[in-house]
Amino acid sequence: MEFDLSVLNKENPYNINIEKFIEQFYGFIQINHLYDSAIHMIETKLEIIDSEFQSNFSRNPIHNISSRLKSPESIANKLIKKGIPITAESILSNLHDIAGVRVICHYIEDIYQIAHYLSMHDDIRIIKQKDYIQNPKPSGYRSLHLIVTVPVYLSTGKKVVPVEIQIRTIAMDFWASLEHQLRYKTKNNVPADLSEELRSLADTINSTDMRMEDIYHKINDLDDEE
Ligand code: GTP
Ligand code: MG
Repeated sequence: MEFDLSVLNKENPYNINIEKFIEQFYGFIQINHLYDSAIHMIETKLEIIDSEFQSNFSRNPIHNISSRLKSPESIANKLIKKGIPITAESILSNLHDIAGVRVICHYIEDIYQIAHYLSMHDDIRIIKQKDYIQNPKPSGYRSLHLIVTVPVYLSTGKKVVPVEIQIRTIAMDFWASLEHQLRYKTKNNVPADLSEELRSLADTINSTDMRMEDIYHKINDLDDEE
């Protein structure tokens, strides 16, 4: 439906540039669709990796996959912090974590295998990798972070879109959600005793993850002997 912009402009008490506003608004709808499509592409690739494991080895390395688009508040905050204008173009060229996918695995080795198989896809490019499992954050946080790009084919042509992928075990995820809650509640002024307890629990969780993986291998060997 076509609007008569002159009518809107006449009744514009805040003197907003309506043409500019509408243009920007459509820009935001388009990037929302673009990042959402990139998430679909990555999720499909991950589901195929998981189902191939199921058919080859009768087990699923992925426990679950979740995804999110960064909220408008969080996008605005990040752009303001970086001193960048809040426009669709600057979101596209400056932010790499608008589209986020979280992959929860059973074992630590699954994390690296999934990252490896994803990196073998011709259309995926890993532009950044941070291994917070080998090098945990001071908080104790562990996860493998990847920023990858994936092509999305639109009527206007191919767009190469960045997606942030966090890969971690069920236990690491359990830890991260509790630590996140605490940070959120205390607005980053986490009481020292609680942050120390969490940091030490992160080590315990890591050694539990490794022992579970070890037992898993021993059980597999038992199967082979039968
Ligand atoms: P940058 O290049 O600095 O952006 O590094 P990065 O993206 O690898 O890590 P960043 O610190 O930006 O964290 C990205 C996301 O990882 C956050 O939004 C959280 O979801 C998660 N994360 C990072 N550090 C922690 C942590 O200490 N605790 C929890 N619970 N989550 C974290
Ligand atoms: Mg980041």
